[in-house]
Amino acid sequence: MLHLRRTLRKRPQPAECPGVAIRPFAGTEAEVEAFLALRRRAFRGLHPPVRPWSRDDFQRQLIARPWWDPNRCLLAWATDGQDRRLAGSAVLAIYALEKPVAAICWLMVAPEFRRRGLGQTLLAHLEQIAWDQGVRHVRVETHSGWKDAMQFYLRQGYLPSSERKSSLES
Ligand SMILES: CC(C)(COP(=O)(O)OP(=O)(O)OC[C@H]1O[C@@H](n2cnc3c(N)ncnc32)[C@H](O)[C@@H]1OP(=O)(O)O)[C@@H](O)C(=O)NCCC(=O)NCCS
Repeated sequence: MLHLRRTLRKRPQPAECPGVAIRPFAGTEAEVEAFLALRRRAFRGLHPPVRPWSRDDFQRQLIARPWWDPNRCLLAWATDGQDRRLAGSAVLAIYALEKPVAAICWLMVAPEFRRRGLGQTLLAHLEQIAWDQGVRHVRVETHSGWKDAMQFYLRQGYLPSSERKSSLES
């Protein structure tokens, strides 16, 4: 995995993304199903590939983690009349190393919602949560082969720090 990082110098101000409401995870089965379906679609076709998650994986990789906090799992809902569809999601893990660190996990946007600023909006919301917790160092694990993600993070001011095994997924 490639580790990127950014130090926050001021409180990020998330832009709004028209037609999309960002809400924390409320703990329903329907949200878990929507997250798993979005994850399958958003990461499909990447090299190196991403293994699809089951409900057990969601439990083990997120809810069972010591850093899990449902208020730091954001779901971006696109509404159209009565319908709502999950357009994007992202999770923030806050933990202590030598300094407190915030790690962006599983930032993803559905293919049909890309390049409209939703990834940027989700990232800024998570950075704002980190800032409000007093955390200034933000990290993300990605892969140099995931070109969209690389372009995206470099554009947001993240810089490569190291290449090593993932510390967040087992
Ligand atoms: C990476 C990802 C979340 C970006 O989401 P997005 O909503 O399309 O991103 P935004 O619209 O907020 O992009 C903001 C800026 O980042 C840059 N950017 C984003 N995607 C890019 C791409 N594919 N190529 C080049 N630049 C890109 C652009 O500068 C863009 O601004 P612009 O559209 O005005 O030029 C999305 O591509 C995705 O879900 N990818 C698959 C999952 C993934 O790899 N997640 C990251 C895991 S670490």
